[in-house]
Amino acid sequence: MCGIFCLLSLSPAESPHDQRLHQNLRRRGPDSAQDLTVSHAGPFSRCLFSAHVLHMRGPLTRQPVRDAGGNVLLWNGEVFAGVPVAPDENDTAVVARRLSACDAPAELVSALARVRGPWAFVYYQRARRCLWFGRDFFGRRSLLWRFDAEAEALTLTSVAGDACGAGPWLEVPAAGVYRIDLEAGRVAGTGGGVTLEVYPWATAAAGGGLPSPENVPSNCVATMNPWGLVLAPPVSPLNTAVPEEVEDGVLRSPPASRVAAEDLEAALASRERTGEVDRLIAVLSEAVQRRVLSLPSDVGDESPPPPPNEDHASVAVLFSGGIDSMILAALADRHVPAHQPIDLLNVAFKLQEKRRQQPAKKAKNKKDGEDQNKPAATAAASETPSPFDVPDRLTGRAGLRELRALNPARRWNFVEVNVTEEELREARRERVRHLVQPLDTVLDDSIGCAMWFAARGEGVVTRAAGDQTPFASLAKVLLTGIGADEQLAGYSRHRVRFKTSGHQGLVQELAMELGRISSRNLGRDDRIIADHGKEARFPYLDEDVVDYLNSLPVWRKADLSLPRGVGEKLLLRQAARALGLGSSALLPKRAMQFGSRIAKMENGRERASDRCNRLLSA
Ligand SMILES: *[C@@H]1O[C@H](CO)[C@@H](O)[C@H](O)[C@H]1NC(C)=O
Ligand SMILES: *[C@@H]1O[C@H](CO)[C@@H](O)[C@H](O)[C@H]1NC(C)=O
Repeated sequence: MCGIFCLLSLSPAESPHDQRLHQNLRRRGPDSAQDLTVSHAGPFSRCLFSAHVLHMRGPLTRQPVRDAGGNVLLWNGEVFAGVPVAPDENDTAVVARRLSACDAPAELVSALARVRGPWAFVYYQRARRCLWFGRDFFGRRSLLWRFDAEAEALTLTSVAGDACGAGPWLEVPAAGVYRIDLEAGRVAGTGGGVTLEVYPWATAAAGGGLPSPENVPSNCVATMNPWGLVLAPPVSPLNTAVPEEVEDGVLRSPPASRVAAEDLEAALASRERTGEVDRLIAVLSEAVQRRVLSLPSDVGDESPPPPPNEDHASVAVLFSGGIDSMILAALADRHVPAHQPIDLLNVAFKLQEKRRQQPAKKAKNKKDGEDQNKPAATAAASETPSPFDVPDRLTGRAGLRELRALNPARRWNFVEVNVTEEELREARRERVRHLVQPLDTVLDDSIGCAMWFAARGEGVVTRAAGDQTPFASLAKVLLTGIGADEQLAGYSRHRVRFKTSGHQGLVQELAMELGRISSRNLGRDDRIIADHGKEARFPYLDEDVVDYLNSLPVWRKADLSLPRGVGEKLLLRQAARALGLGSSALLPKRAMQFGSRIAKMENGRERASDRCNRLLSA
């Protein structure tokens, strides 16, 4: 994970330096920082490249990388497959070499489309006098843009600056890659900006793959590239088949809420273990393997990172004890060397006094993800309940017991991250409100804050004798479960959609959600997690995993005629059983903002999609 920044000036005047923005970039890439300026005759006078590197593998590659031909690369990404990278090589150097070998636009876009893994990049191609940039197919790395008409400059950056600073930032849409012809004139008119050529991913996206105008910086224009070139997507299109016969019968199934726990067991057990279960485990396991083995190493390095030892894990999992994170932990256990611990990061926000005293009151809120089932485990009756015993803490502990049963020899560091209201306010004011930009809703605030604390990984672990010691996770790689619900119909809105419009409606909903995951979640999550000098990795969004899930008809992935806790993500639950997991396989979805109880700390009347005032006036 790196912080990359590029300022393209149309005016010879110096642009003001944004202190906050550069501080934010430095936190993403604490291991090396460097600037490089390329000057030009013609309408674009100057291009400043700035890179902050977080060292992950191979020898530390300083950026910007400039080759003998004068090309410049900023790379915030990981090559997990598609292009060979030897274990002792740095992938930045490999990508730079690949791009240097390209001349025509068609060559360059096909070289990029071959990379499997998350990326955002900026590339100055000197011979052709142009600037390329963009994000991978899913948008797993953040890239923002803005055109400042007064300073006459286009900025591209991993993260924004001061939340109160000038001008609106936008996420660069993950619709394709972009090229700016530095010889061409600027857009006509006062304050005229930049013409952006788009090379879209070849999908059936609305608008022919061009970003919609409200996502393009003011004064700039995005147009299809003159050659009509497109990038081959890394995954096959979503299987949109719907069953013909069963539709009627399915809809008449009994309502979900009346089925008891034993019946959930029975419903899951009655499902025959098909080849699909094994195949899903195989692709997911490989996806996790790639993400836990491409780690910092100390071969021939100037400043070797400390090698993992008995105490310090290299890999952490954002861990609620729910099925998505349990599967990631169980698969990480297969691939992380046996002597290394694995950190399980579990975040809880302090329950307020009055709310704790009426635990029996049922949640009436039927909004997405709100859990109405009791957690699988409750605190032992003898203990006084802690104000941090929120639902995710309880399921987290239950999950820990399952993982211990699965592999008693592994050291599992269950990190209890407890957050008070004061800490929350301070973190929001100092960090989170800058990082979530340009997103700004109540939901972005809740998830942003919860994820920021979880990813920091500072809390306590309980050792064998029951004594708690302070603990800070040093793992640079964080596995998160994002993408499972979007692909396997895990949200309660999927159930609603299925009830009203059947399989057809469900398929449409799933297609729409995967299409917008970059702008809704991934850029934000990347900015939040990277703020700790750590890297988020998303096994459920591995190209092979998505490709496999896309190939299956929807009724193989979920059966929403079955009750909550079984029907949604059914295939994943079967996989959990096959991996030897217990009751976590039957937990219904609980969104992070409810499970961690951060949503309870704030005004209960606001809607998740409202603009969040706390982010503005912290
Ligand atoms: C890593 O990157 C640096 C800087 O680009 C380069 O000099 C070095 O040769 C690269 N090492 C390998 C093994 O690719
Ligand atoms: C954090 O919360 C847990 C309860 O979930 C409690 O056992 C632990 O002592 C708390 N730790 C601190 C440092 O407050």
